[in-house]
Amino acid sequence: PRPNGRRHAAPARGGQAGSSAPSMGRLRERDARLRAQVLAGRREAVERQHGLGKRTARERLDLLLDEGSFLEIEMYRRHRSHGLKMGENRPHTDGVVAGSGTIFGRRVFVYAQDFTVFGGSLGEAHAAKIHKVMDLALENGAPLIGLNDSGGARIQEGVMSLDGYGGIFHRNVRASGVIPQISVILGPCAGGAAYSPALTDFTFMVRGSAQMYLTGPDVVEAVSGRRVTHAELGGADVHGELTGVATFVHDDEETCLEEVRYLVSLLPANNLEPAPAAAPRGAAGDERPRLAEIVPVEPNKPYDMRLVVEELVDDGEFIELHENWAPNVICALARLDGEVVGVVANQPMVLAGVLDADAAQKAARFVRFCDAFGIPLVTLVDVPGFLPGIEQEHAGVIRHGAKLLYAYCEATVPRVQVILRKAYGGAYIVMDSRSIGCDLSLAWPTNEIAVMGAEGAVNVLFRRELAAAADPEGLRAELVAEYSEQLMHPYYAAERGLVDDVIDPVRTRAAVARGLEMLRRKRASTPQRKHGNTPL
Ligand code: HXC
Repeated sequence: PRPNGRRHAAPARGGQAGSSAPSMGRLRERDARLRAQVLAGRREAVERQHGLGKRTARERLDLLLDEGSFLEIEMYRRHRSHGLKMGENRPHTDGVVAGSGTIFGRRVFVYAQDFTVFGGSLGEAHAAKIHKVMDLALENGAPLIGLNDSGGARIQEGVMSLDGYGGIFHRNVRASGVIPQISVILGPCAGGAAYSPALTDFTFMVRGSAQMYLTGPDVVEAVSGRRVTHAELGGADVHGELTGVATFVHDDEETCLEEVRYLVSLLPANNLEPAPAAAPRGAAGDERPRLAEIVPVEPNKPYDMRLVVEELVDDGEFIELHENWAPNVICALARLDGEVVGVVANQPMVLAGVLDADAAQKAARFVRFCDAFGIPLVTLVDVPGFLPGIEQEHAGVIRHGAKLLYAYCEATVPRVQVILRKAYGGAYIVMDSRSIGCDLSLAWPTNEIAVMGAEGAVNVLFRRELAAAADPEGLRAELVAEYSEQLMHPYYAAERGLVDDVIDPVRTRAAVARGLEMLRRKRASTPQRKHGNTPL
């Protein structure tokens, strides 16, 4: 081998047969190409991106992944189109940076669309890179995270762009329930592009910059005459509050990507591996006196169920899905005694905690996620029933409520139900009752489990007697007392095996932890079939 100095003084040109060291010319070319792919976006485009408070694809990956962990694939790939002046503009990366890295030391696969190159639009080469990284994620059993910031199908590449999207959707569905899939929307996500996030498990959006819609404001105006802004049509809050398309909404990219990291820290790598556990906390011995203070004894007094969740889980820490959509039900991931659990809870602070069409859809999807990935379910029940009304009936509450029922009936993960105060009617059945398969049902002594509340029941059962009575109010009070004494306590259900134990509220965390410990090795299966026909 030649000494270094000599090699620098007289670089060889081209590959020499028999030489293992690359020539200097080739190394320089490599360096130049590397720079070109790192700086694929024009300077003005990068400045514009920064001016909008947005980061470039690589800056985002730096925030998302552990330092120095990113391994990039196909960085030199670029399109081979010629029409519409495309032949003159062939930047490396083709507008998407793809590869793999780690989050808290655990492997993930990622792609980040780069708006500074062709507006992040998706053509044939761009799609091929995403397909590749999706295939790697599935084959390696690791979560897939897509950072979306794109003008959609690359117009110049015609149907090949649409074909590229189809390939993403197809892979999203194949990977569903096998690896966790997370979509992060950090800019436009228009047209059919919005269907990939919709097929994944979690969608993050950033206020101000993220938009999702099938047809943009111009098309809406042309068709309907109505002028709307991007944000009004499909901004983060629209999807975080109205449509439920966004699972999480954040004010800025930094917080958003930090939260993606936190979420990943709670998720299993795939459906065959357990969620990452932390050290046990000795929860089985815990007493939480605050629980008795948070929940009022009066059945109709509101309280914030999130405070109950805080008392139950480790460090009071949980990540809430769809915080502002259907807030009458809470869906959260947390750790309990070190193990990851999914919490579904009625929220008496909103609409008295009733279930409605949106709440049922929200909880159903969450239950199915937890079941697919082996995450035990803890269901906290305090529910007066389904929301009555013409709007709900016409909104299809039967169809949507059936989704939640179906999801619970199908779930084979460990399932613990805690009935805090009341559980009436169909909502009692749906909120993971014994009849639909919960493994362990715990009830507080104060609670009421019945077809309906005492007043309503007496009105139905004794309508004629009350109408004919000399003192209807006196009679009503008497009948209400009788009904309550006979039916409105947990022991009626406990005697019949529908409640396993009536627990002291302050020992709820301990009782749930012990129950989950008992169920840790649970194995249950569903009948062989192609798939069930979930009401959609
Ligand atoms: C090619 C595109 C592009 C696209 C943007 N660009 N979208 N190039 N195909 N779809 C380019 C622009 O020409 C521009 O290039 C650069 O990206 C930045 O775009 P701007 O328009 O300057 O940015 P901005 O003003 O921020 O507007 C962003 C935008 C707008 C709202 C996304 O670009 C837009 O409306 N684009 C078209 C969106 C669209 O209709 N896409 C097709 C959707 S249908 P220069 O060279 O000037 O920097 C679809 C079907 C998928 O996606 C179906 C799957 C089944």
